[in-house]
Amino acid sequence: NTGKLWGGRFAGGPSPELDALSRSTHFDWRLTPYDLAGSRAHANALHRAGLLTDADHVELLRGLDVLGQRYAAGELHPDPSDEDVHGALERLLVEEVGAEVGGRLRAGRSRNDQIATLFKVFLRDHAAEIAERVLDLVDALTVQARDHLDVVMPGRTHLQHAQPVLLSHHLLAHAWPLLRDVGRLRDWDARVAADSPYGAGALAGSSLGLDPEGVAAELGFTGSTANSIDGTAARDFVAEFAFVTAQIGVDVSRFAEEVILWSTREFDFVTLHDSWSTGSSIMPQKKNPDIAELARGKAGRLIGNLAGLLATLKALPLAYNRDLQEDKEPVFDSVDTLEVLLPAFTGMVASLTFNSARMTELAPQGFSLATDIAEWLVREGVPFRVAHEVAGACVRRCEELGIELDELSDEQFAEISPSLTPAVREVLTIEGSVASRVGRGGTAPQRVRDQLSELTTVVEAH
Ligand code: ARG
Repeated sequence: NTGKLWGGRFAGGPSPELDALSRSTHFDWRLTPYDLAGSRAHANALHRAGLLTDADHVELLRGLDVLGQRYAAGELHPDPSDEDVHGALERLLVEEVGAEVGGRLRAGRSRNDQIATLFKVFLRDHAAEIAERVLDLVDALTVQARDHLDVVMPGRTHLQHAQPVLLSHHLLAHAWPLLRDVGRLRDWDARVAADSPYGAGALAGSSLGLDPEGVAAELGFTGSTANSIDGTAARDFVAEFAFVTAQIGVDVSRFAEEVILWSTREFDFVTLHDSWSTGSSIMPQKKNPDIAELARGKAGRLIGNLAGLLATLKALPLAYNRDLQEDKEPVFDSVDTLEVLLPAFTGMVASLTFNSARMTELAPQGFSLATDIAEWLVREGVPFRVAHEVAGACVRRCEELGIELDELSDEQFAEISPSLTPAVREVLTIEGSVASRVGRGGTAPQRVRDQLSELTTVVEAH
């Protein structure tokens, strides 16, 4: 009894070099619980089709349960002679229930439909797990946003001061993309759930009167594959999963980069909690944003996993080719990466202390209220092209004088344009500026409060 599922037509055994290349148990062994669940559903289908006696059926299920328990206890291991998880588990099953009964399970299935199915179930479980961890991060951002509704910060474009915005508004701008990522995971899941490949066999389907819909339902799918070739050959579900995980990495990395910048002495916008930052082995004063840097770095790795997968799939003829075994390690890595990264990143975000005074102080600097002057003039009836010129002239005058916009005197305003009456000062405070942005999606405090409840509704729908 070996862990090879073939051999009848071969005169000699495989060379050790082939064995070494072919073996996948070092990474696919983690699919064991999924393979066992598939085998249970398949045994039930064989029994329903009259291909297993009641006694053999019961014995097979018992054997599969024993293997499941031994795996859970950490006592089940592949042997170096095993080619892959499927072969190893059949060998172990035969050891448990004997060759007569154990040898009946493989009827009507191939590793090709088997792996496609159980890989889907594995990824569905982890998509749900990752979605929960992303929602935890959204939650941390939301709590910080709710706690800082009164803080104004410099909003930036091109990394230059642009217009004042609420810190809460900025934080929520990171929450929305993450919520869309959760939506992407849910959409992906619904598509994958409809398409269980079990029953496709090697590529052509089964002749044994099995029941793919029944197997699908037992494994938590909503339907089974309509085309057995597609069912065994397609891996777009893997590539799409890898894309969504890469996008999550990219979205996280954009906030990570800001945390790195914001924690510099130059910005001084945030202080990292001691438990969520690291020190230097030589410089005693250092406190480093390693979590954010690792998040930034791991985004590259997640993108690499997606790119590698697409390269594997490109131009592969139908149906199954052994190349497809290369689909697993990249997404296993993406899953492991995010499941470690997201809790750490969330902890860092939840424990950030914002230097509100510093943000508020910098918010109006760099003439970030110039747009407010122009829009105030528009509300006074001045055409925007003129208003833009006038506000630009105010900035030029301030630069000459080395002052900020609100430091221009009434006379200096009037010299620039008679339209600039002292009433313009109502928009020359950061509070006035943000309060004026009342359009939907704007940074006015009331709009941001609305946004918080809108976001909470979306989160609760997940
Ligand atoms: N371990 C393989 C995979 O991950 C499945 C085995 C199919 N092998 C075969 N020779 N048809 O894709």
